[in-house]
Amino acid sequence: MTLPDAVTRLDASFFQDPYEIYAELRTAGPVRKVVLPQGTHVWMVTNYADVRATLADLRLSNDISRAQPAFEHHRDPDKPPVKFDAALSTHMLNSDPPQHTRLRKLVTKAFTARGVGHLRPRIEELSTELLDGLAARVAAGEREFDLIADFAFPLPITVICELLGVPDTDRDAFREWGSTILSASPPEVIRDARTAMAEYMVRLLAGKREEPGADLLTALIDARDDGDRLSDRELVSMTFLLLLAGHETTVNLIASGMLSLLQAPDQLALLRSDLGLLPGAIEEFLRFEGSVNIPTVRHTLEPVEIGGVPIPAGELVVAPLAAANRDPNKFPDPDRLDITRAPAAHLAFGHGVHFCVGAPLARLEGEVALAGLLSRFPNISLAADPADLVWHESTVVRGLHSLPVLLS
Ligand code: HEM
Repeated sequence: MTLPDAVTRLDASFFQDPYEIYAELRTAGPVRKVVLPQGTHVWMVTNYADVRATLADLRLSNDISRAQPAFEHHRDPDKPPVKFDAALSTHMLNSDPPQHTRLRKLVTKAFTARGVGHLRPRIEELSTELLDGLAARVAAGEREFDLIADFAFPLPITVICELLGVPDTDRDAFREWGSTILSASPPEVIRDARTAMAEYMVRLLAGKREEPGADLLTALIDARDDGDRLSDRELVSMTFLLLLAGHETTVNLIASGMLSLLQAPDQLALLRSDLGLLPGAIEEFLRFEGSVNIPTVRHTLEPVEIGGVPIPAGELVVAPLAAANRDPNKFPDPDRLDITRAPAAHLAFGHGVHFCVGAPLARLEGEVALAGLLSRFPNISLAADPADLVWHESTVVRGLHSLPVLLS
């Protein structure tokens, strides 16, 4: 499939199974030229050491305000241009230090000040309510459920919306916009969803200004650091980032973690027999089937060398976490789920200055959700052929549309 200097064109099959392609590319060399399914030409890094180094290298920029020419230059001519709207994009994931440092400091002040431990009782309560609902439906004779719609989605969206102060009546609309934005839908469809979401955020923040609450949005409005504070545009973008990053990924940690277990009965039995193994199992789910496949596309501010390959300035570089986390040089027998694997620093939460702000919350939610599910429904089983499961058509998010399961 790949010749030394050939360009690999990824198509829709990449969404269903990126691992085979990553293994081929990794064997072919540390960095390969690839065309992403949406028509963007990039350099793709596939081994653990170089992905990690790339993510920490500040000569590779996340600054979206400077990336437009590179995206324009490196797209298939028959594909529509990638356009960034400042209304939702002025956030830390799209910026470099020192702007990134400034934004991250303000949010961590408001977000991580108290840690996440105090959220455990509420997350357990929400999880128990959802499991009670499922148990009642089982008692009424239902057997088949969509684990995502019925459990994995409602939990994190409720947690992040409560944390931020988003009314529960708006959550479904929010989910709809979120999955459209992260999908491979036509640009005009994505643009409309972004506009609707930006308008919604502006209204939400205006409401909080009038009526402050004991929530993160109010804390972000008030967050100050040496006289510095977030501008209105930054507030809208920050809220957008937290809402989107804060739920879609966690939904997939719960669902893909469960899917991985259902496909590895020995591991499922082991975990069921000792739930004390859960923290290690969560790390293995994140490595094995993490929720972020390709993180933010970086662009080179100056010529760089990755894995001995020279890359000129103005190029686009991607460092897929899903490729790094299955590198056999780092993780022996990488395609096997092993919940007792020795800890080995997977990259599912990224690396470097953009390392995930929400990692402790995601781990906590994953743990509570899977512990609850396994204790309550020890006989859970898959209600579909794994080959028929459909993955999101997104290069960023790795997650299923639905996960049919049988509960008894
Ligand atoms: C399993 C769940 C999650 C996964 C796998 C995940 C993964 C990631 C990754 C890979 C990045 C870095 C992206 C890059 O370098 O381009 C990131 C950044 C980020 N994540 Fe998460 N995330 C998860 C949950 C959350 C949650 C629950 C929140 C918030 C409540 C959150 C908020 C953020 C924010 C704000 C950033 C940007 C950090 C920065 O630019 O400095 N994430 N996440």
